[in-house]
Amino acid sequence: MSKSMLIVMQLEELFLARSFLDGPVGLVPTMGYLHAGHISLVEKAGLECKGVIATIFVNPTQFGPTEDLEKYPRNIDGDLKLLEAAGVDVVWMPTAQIMYPPGYQTWVDVENMTKPLEGSMRPGHFRGVTTVVAKLFNATRPDRAYFGQKDAQQAAVIRQMTRDLSYPIEIIVCSTRREADGLAMSSRNSYLAPEQRLAAVVLFRALNAAQSAYKEGERNAERLRQVVRDIINLEPLAKLQYVSCADYETFQELEVVNSKALLSLAVFMGATRLIDNFILE
Ligand code: PAF
Repeated sequence: MSKSMLIVMQLEELFLARSFLDGPVGLVPTMGYLHAGHISLVEKAGLECKGVIATIFVNPTQFGPTEDLEKYPRNIDGDLKLLEAAGVDVVWMPTAQIMYPPGYQTWVDVENMTKPLEGSMRPGHFRGVTTVVAKLFNATRPDRAYFGQKDAQQAAVIRQMTRDLSYPIEIIVCSTRREADGLAMSSRNSYLAPEQRLAAVVLFRALNAAQSAYKEGERNAERLRQVVRDIINLEPLAKLQYVSCADYETFQELEVVNSKALLSLAVFMGATRLIDNFILE
């Protein structure tokens, strides 16, 4: 018989539910509108931990003033069904009032590594992410926390925060789940019109082409970035925001790829901003 999943909102309810979980506890933080990528994190947590907590919270502080907070897709009923089927023990769905009560004024800010890439395009984004993730860690006290590789910089920033703030939590980064044509799974894919959805595979194609060049021996980072630009620019529905070939630890742009590197890009398909990355090593 499958165990039943507890759904809680208030902090006190969460603390009580948490007190019933023993053994290693895994946390899967999400903003909901779940897809197979999220579920693969939950399943991995289920294999590695005795208890699994998932959170659903569309965190307002990680959205910029012109970003998609209001229209961010939501499907709570569908999410809860998926989480229950995947074997989650506790789902915490706090409100913005619970996370940021009136008068809220405490922030967690990782410094240098949040400046380039996503940080330069989305000022304040990582401050919102690290603040909410620290609050989720404090409230759920997991032994392990699971994040996706699609948000590579986010995962690295959270790992840094975990180390800097001495959280006794292992950060586990799971590979990007992709649609059949290679498009990285993302809740934001639901914004795409059918022709944009077809065209969006160009991100994967561009990364693949640059990775092939790398495998064939190309080590000049600018030439690898140019391979990506050339392919994205051939797709009329896509507008490249940035392409980066950066050191995997610092996210500083490279001239020569002679250690582990992150090849990443952000592309607008109409108003929808998509990101993706490959690791070169
Ligand atoms: O990756 C996400 O969905 C969010 O950034 C996270 C980690 C749940 C924090 O709001």
